Amino acid sequence: MTAPVSLNAHQSEFWSSRARIAAFIAGWGSGKSFVARLKLLTYHLAVPGVECWAGMASYRQIEDSLIPDFFRALPQLERYFSKGELSVSLPNRSKLMFRYFEDPEKISNVNLRACWVEQAESVPEESIIRLLGRLRHSDEAQLLLTANTAGQNWLGRWLKGGQSPYPFTLTEADSFSNREHLPAHYLAFLERLRATRPAAYQRFVLNSWASTEGAVWPQFSEAVHVIDPFPVPETWRQGISLDHGYRNPTAVLWWAVDQDGVVYLVDEHYEAGKVAEHHAAKIKERPVHTWQDAVADQSIFAKTQQEGGMLVSVADRYLTHGIPVRPASRKVDGELLAVVGEWFERRQIKIFRNCVNTIREIRDYEWTKHKQSYLDKHDPQERPRDIGDHTCDCLAYLIADRPIPALPALPLSILETVRRRRWDYEEPEPQPETQAGIAGLP
Ligand SMILES: Nc1ncnc2c1ncn2[C@@H]1O[C@H](COP(=O)(O)OP(=O)(O)OP(=O)(O)O)[C@@H](O)[C@H]1O
Ligand SMILES: [Mg+2]
Repeated sequence: MTAPVSLNAHQSEFWSSRARIAAFIAGWGSGKSFVARLKLLTYHLAVPGVECWAGMASYRQIEDSLIPDFFRALPQLERYFSKGELSVSLPNRSKLMFRYFEDPEKISNVNLRACWVEQAESVPEESIIRLLGRLRHSDEAQLLLTANTAGQNWLGRWLKGGQSPYPFTLTEADSFSNREHLPAHYLAFLERLRATRPAAYQRFVLNSWASTEGAVWPQFSEAVHVIDPFPVPETWRQGISLDHGYRNPTAVLWWAVDQDGVVYLVDEHYEAGKVAEHHAAKIKERPVHTWQDAVADQSIFAKTQQEGGMLVSVADRYLTHGIPVRPASRKVDGELLAVVGEWFERRQIKIFRNCVNTIREIRDYEWTKHKQSYLDKHDPQERPRDIGDHTCDCLAYLIADRPIPALPALPLSILETVRRRRWDYEEPEPQPETQAGIAGLP
């Protein structure tokens, strides 16, 4: 089937891909949304009686951009739209649903012909795996991914690192490949980025995979900060940092601080859909000296829950189940995140390899990307993306407290001196009477 409108060479390549995963990773304004929308509608939804999804990471993103953009591009579809269901029911009995993919648990019980994931780099890998599990309609069922490059996260590992669970096609293009459809002022804006924001220009215009532009902690590197686990000496300060969620995962990080003040993230608990009692039980499975100091988000101290006719907080619930937590000394904001970045820079944070969710979240943690506002990232209004940041928050609460180093281990020579002194000044122990002594009596 040929496309119903004229497409450029990159768009045509993506349009004609029949691979299980068709990825179009390209610069701003390169026409990736245009062709993905068209492909979903005129190739997949043209089949009668099928269900397709289109979505992004968060509900806000689909409400603010995906749905309005859809109807701006294809206004004739709006009359089939149900706002309550967030779906378009076509006359051929096919249905398009708008979904958000932040929570992998919400992806189940459906047999899809196709799914388009817009800004796929912001969607958790687990959700993408689940979506692939839903694509069972036929051999032609397809996952369409549109994104900017994200060399550090699953998108880079799948498409550039040979770790994709399915065969895929990858179409790549820079912004200028769609020059003919971009207004002159926008082209001039992209050009100006070359000098004003070279790293953003590399990633979002030239589509380079090498850039860490947009990362909250570009200082983080798995090669430098991730280490093999070792038994933590009991003399080190140890504790936990907690970020409680119900719909979102609850994250608990076990940390330890050595004599030089290096913070080690040694273990994690990461689970969604469970109450405080469950997480408290998980914490208590570990040795008690590892969770004697417990710090948590200030918000869980608000008394918002009813229990036995009384108002209690989430923190109260942890206390009832044996885990006393104290509030973090401050909230997570841009300034605190910059401090954490400095700790990474100085190699004062090390992460045990077994903390897989922590490593993933820290690596994938990005500022919100709303194009122009993104470029004003040094504006204090700039926020990190609040998706998949649970262990990152735990780390920030911990660093906010400026964790105190463990007491120095005394070198052997000092111990030896102290022992000798004791011999010098202490009364000599009474010697047992010996045969010789008795015999020596006058
Ligand atoms: N083949 C085409 N024919 C006509 N117009 C097109 C074509 N491809 C893209 N455009 C237009 O080019 C502009 C940019 O396309 P689009 O929004 O799809 O880019 P994008 O890669 O999704 O950009 P962004 O990164 O900003 O999301 C849009 O106005 C779109 O309508
Ligand atoms: Mg787009």
